Amino acid sequence: MKKIVFALGLLTLLISNCSKKQNKPILNYIEEPHSFSLPNEAVITHMDLDINVDFDNEIIQGKASYLIKNNEASQIILDSKFLTIEHVQADGKDTTFSLGDFDEQLGNPLKIDINKNTKRITVFYKTTDQTEALQWLKPQQTTDKKFPFLFTQGQAILTRTWIPIQDSPQIRITYNAKVHVPSQLMAVMSAENPKEKTSNGHYTFKMAQPISPYLIALAVGDIEYKAISDRTGVYAEKSMVEKAHYEFSDMENMVASAEALYGKYAWEQFDVIVLPPSFPFGGMENPRLTFATPTVIAGDKSLTSLIAHELAHSWSGNLVTNASWDDFWLNEGFTVYFEMRIMEALYGKDRANMLARIGRQDLEEEIEGFKDTPDDTKLKLNLKGRNPDDGMNSIAYDKGYLFLRTLEEKAGREKFDIFLKNYFQTHAFSTINTEKFIAFLNENLLEKHDIVFNTEAWVYNAGIPDNQAIISSDKFETVEKTIQQYVKSNSIDKALTIDWTTQEWVHFVRNFPNDIKTEHLAMIDEVFNLTNSNNSYIAMVWYEQAINHDYHGNNIDVKIEEFLIQVGRRWYVSTIYKAFKRHNKTDVALAIYKKARANYHSVTTNTIDDLLGFKQD
Ligand code: BES
Ligand code: ZN
Repeated sequence: MKKIVFALGLLTLLISNCSKKQNKPILNYIEEPHSFSLPNEAVITHMDLDINVDFDNEIIQGKASYLIKNNEASQIILDSKFLTIEHVQADGKDTTFSLGDFDEQLGNPLKIDINKNTKRITVFYKTTDQTEALQWLKPQQTTDKKFPFLFTQGQAILTRTWIPIQDSPQIRITYNAKVHVPSQLMAVMSAENPKEKTSNGHYTFKMAQPISPYLIALAVGDIEYKAISDRTGVYAEKSMVEKAHYEFSDMENMVASAEALYGKYAWEQFDVIVLPPSFPFGGMENPRLTFATPTVIAGDKSLTSLIAHELAHSWSGNLVTNASWDDFWLNEGFTVYFEMRIMEALYGKDRANMLARIGRQDLEEEIEGFKDTPDDTKLKLNLKGRNPDDGMNSIAYDKGYLFLRTLEEKAGREKFDIFLKNYFQTHAFSTINTEKFIAFLNENLLEKHDIVFNTEAWVYNAGIPDNQAIISSDKFETVEKTIQQYVKSNSIDKALTIDWTTQEWVHFVRNFPNDIKTEHLAMIDEVFNLTNSNNSYIAMVWYEQAINHDYHGNNIDVKIEEFLIQVGRRWYVSTIYKAFKRHNKTDVALAIYKKARANYHSVTTNTIDDLLGFKQD
């Protein structure tokens, strides 16, 4: 009898244990190589950030407090890199924690002890001088040169260097923040923002829609706001506000045409902040507040496709987010496609085709650059053990675009647009990986309309499949003829270029014959003074050509050096340093780089250090 009772007891114990296991909610986060967090065990859902921005010591200090979804875990793991963790609480009481081994890319796992009922954890911390996300600028490094400036850059895995967090793109959190800054400065975030300075330097923020950690952003400086419409506007330093306001005056129209294409803008407000010139990117799609380089302020609105691009990320990236950095093309390829559609809707096919042709040439050059590592030309990547930055090149952007454009041409625009709208709607506020995308594509476009398409080849193979869409531009054909004529006749007919746009100039400069003579470059420079162009894009491609062809007229060497010291936009400066390297002038590049390096953000120095083999003494 006793035995039976015992056996029954054991059985109920087993059953109850078993059902307990089954009661554990099943969470479906995938294994992701660039985060230590184990979100299926315990995952953050909301952050309350309370920080002080200390310009004197160049540190951020405060606390990050999280609500968590706790799957009966005894530990929650956050990512942290170069942070000093002071103490940690679980539900308001001090708890134990440890930092796991340091990994050069990923930093340290911050392992916090909790119990199965823990609902909130709070980490008290400060940043260090090794932080990679933050760039602290002295007044001289700003446009107005009066006050210091700070900005953050989170993508891809840098948020963990200024906030301890589960830093994977598949995590989504809402956040509130309290930020304390010197009273002369204003703070803005990827959240609901102030339009004026407060008197005491205290700011509060709220991001009500769940976003991925790489999209948490902060900028602090002597900035002002000027509205363009009810829901769009610009932040910039005083001397830049009017220029930015003029340059981006089409922002409301951009939002409206984007909405007409793929559905309602989900973030209410769309503002842009123009940062000091060291900002390492053209733009960064921080929700509600795109961060932008001042190098797009050309005075003639000719480089504003960058704004269309960052706006497009409000759908592809911020709303529907790549699940891991191996799927980065889902963010950028879709965004370039959407960018081109916005540009076409607002400015017509000629402009869109020119932009697409420029991207096509970028792609050609990128593929050539990867000829020894063809795996890097695949859309779906395998970046395990590598810096995700390694995958952030033209392949994701321009091959991604070419794939979608080819698909559009195959399916027809009408069907393709219905499909894309459905894609954004179905996956809003969630993450997507390549495999999920392919399944969705098959079901909702290809099988539905009996379309046969080589999706797998596009996504998983190196190079470009044979069925690629042909991108042509009449405008650019005319430009190519003009080049031939100039070179052949040894003279310049200015009339041929009278109504050229920036894109035509860029195409002109990038497509000189390989054997063009320096006399020809001198002749072109004499007439068009490209060395002193106020358009950063034209100047940048011209400097590249000057280096390629050993042209030193018009004091261009000084100009190139000034440009590299002034501008920190990675794409621009790396193009120029690469040209030096290609032509065995790494010594010249290094001499300039030593003067310029202190002005660059870590994102840029990481790339250029590698490129030039630079080591700090
Ligand atoms: N999200 C990117 C910037 C980025 C990429 C940051 C990879 C960190 C890692 C942004 O949307 C972008 O693509 N910017 C481009 C602009 C362009 C293609 C119009 C840039 O910075 O040049
Ligand atoms: Zn982008």
